[in-house]
Amino acid sequence: MNKIAFIGAGNMARAIIIGLVNSGITPQDIIVANPSEAKRLNLATEFGVLQTDDNIKASEFADVIVLCVKPHFITDVCFQISQAIDITGKLFISVAAGTTVEQIQSALSKGETTNLAPVVRVMPNTPSQLGLGMSGLFASKEVTVEQKASAEKITNAVGKSIWLDTEDKINNIIAVAGSAPAYYFLFMEAMEQQAKQYGFSEEESRMLVQQTALGAAQMVAHNSAPISELRANVTSKGGTTHAAIERFKADGIEEIVKNAMNAAIARAEEMAK
Ligand SMILES: NC(=O)c1ccc[n+]([C@@H]2O[C@H](COP(=O)([O-])OP(=O)(O)OC[C@H]3O[C@@H](n4cnc5c(N)ncnc54)[C@H](OP(=O)(O)O)[C@@H]3O)[C@@H](O)[C@H]2O)c1
Repeated sequence: MNKIAFIGAGNMARAIIIGLVNSGITPQDIIVANPSEAKRLNLATEFGVLQTDDNIKASEFADVIVLCVKPHFITDVCFQISQAIDITGKLFISVAAGTTVEQIQSALSKGETTNLAPVVRVMPNTPSQLGLGMSGLFASKEVTVEQKASAEKITNAVGKSIWLDTEDKINNIIAVAGSAPAYYFLFMEAMEQQAKQYGFSEEESRMLVQQTALGAAQMVAHNSAPISELRANVTSKGGTTHAAIERFKADGIEEIVKNAMNAAIARAEEMAK
């Protein structure tokens, strides 16, 4: 594996660094750059990675530069790096929602339209913190086979990943995986609230919902049968589960989910403008 620089040492950088170190990457091959001291010092102390407050120094050190700042800082950071050092041969990986490959390459290009920098856009999600992330990756045409392998190694260190053939599918990944942990949380919150209505204590309600969600997710993960079949297997006609499922359907669960996911895509498109 190459040397990797993280520009920004926030939540996403931390999640990926934990995954990389746990997967056996040498910590001294990783450097983090962050303006405020506490986050980068914590990472250095906990995981033995190198740290600096200087984005240029970090970028000089690395073959792979992972941009982990908020989307509105991405182009400034890229411009700053490309003005200061020769970026030839370096791969840029951006985890920012809403910043396109074209915007990143333009900020890195010093006005040139040829020899554009290789850029991979990654859309991860928060379970990456636990090594259970789901990421979508899109590579610009300048990215080499070896660089694609490096990008994939980084995302696979924090979960699973798929390659996308067109950049616009990044927004679809946001709808299906990036924003989706919160959909499950919302559903679990609603169930937890109802469990309390039935007289279960706060602790019992949490345990009932949490363990059931975990069990259901594990059943899906451990069984290659279609999810609809798993559901049918536990839904005897005329039984209690059947009554609940029929109610969900009558109340428009499929439409609700479709509209929510489309709203995430619409917002991602707005943010990209
Ligand atoms: N968290 C997620 O679930 C998630 C999922 C998908 C994608 N993403 C993307 O990941 C990126 C980072 O998100 P996050 O949740 O990790 O945000 P975060 O926790 O706020 O981290 C961003 C970090 O960037 C640092 N920073 C600000 N300006 C900088 C600069 N000029 N140079 C270097 N570092 C700078 C900040 O440092 P200070 O605090 O010192 O200012 C902060 O530590 C975003 O673009 C987001 O769209 C996040």
